[in-house]
Amino acid sequence: MVEAITPVVVPGPSELAEAAAAWTADRVRTAVAERRACYWALAGGETPRGCYARLAQPPYRDVVPWQSVFVYWSDERQVPLDDPTSNYAMARAVLLDHMPIPSEQVFPLVGDPTPALRRIPADDRGLPRFDIIHLGLGEDGHTASLFPGNAALQEARALVAHVHDAPKPPRERLTLTLPVINAARAVLVMVQGASKKDALARVLRRDPALPASLVVPVDGELEFLVDRAAIGE
Ligand code: 6PG
Repeated sequence: MVEAITPVVVPGPSELAEAAAAWTADRVRTAVAERRACYWALAGGETPRGCYARLAQPPYRDVVPWQSVFVYWSDERQVPLDDPTSNYAMARAVLLDHMPIPSEQVFPLVGDPTPALRRIPADDRGLPRFDIIHLGLGEDGHTASLFPGNAALQEARALVAHVHDAPKPPRERLTLTLPVINAARAVLVMVQGASKKDALARVLRRDPALPASLVVPVDGELEFLVDRAAIGE
């Protein structure tokens, strides 16, 4: 039985952005110090926007070894990369365009992402082992583009799954699968706003009907960083 999760609770969105940025900067530094590189999958949606904007400002912009960071996404909507609803476009606008991360180290989740994922050092099961995976939480308990009842949740071998019927538009998506997510060294789930309160409460109790409950790193840390509105305080 996987035990319940105790989240880190912060007052609101600006504190969540700061705490997420500090958490991420710390883990980037550790990865680069220990392995000379950091493999990081960004989250989509709106919640991580504050964290990414904060990382693009001092001190993080200036003290984190960004030139050793390899950027991926935990999921992507299948729209043009310059479409404003693309997770890549958001990260480009608020983070990547302001950082010294070499463009050849940025891997949008499009087409066949397997070769790019195979550049990531693998764990002893042959799965790419991200140093950091960022995730959000949907009101229905989805995370990345793993939606309740979707076949992608059952994917036990493929590194990514195509989703053709996402209940949250756009309907066509690509997502990292649970084996890849759970192979990570560190997973940060960022949750803000009262609209997520019910889903968050169920995920913290590990309700198996909600995909985010299935994020259980095999040999890695998991942190839920939530604001007071999301926890119902
Ligand atoms: C996406 C995201 C998705 C997101 C949640 C929360 O592409 O939509 O990956 O999983 O994290 O839906 O979205 P918000 O942060 O916008 O509430």
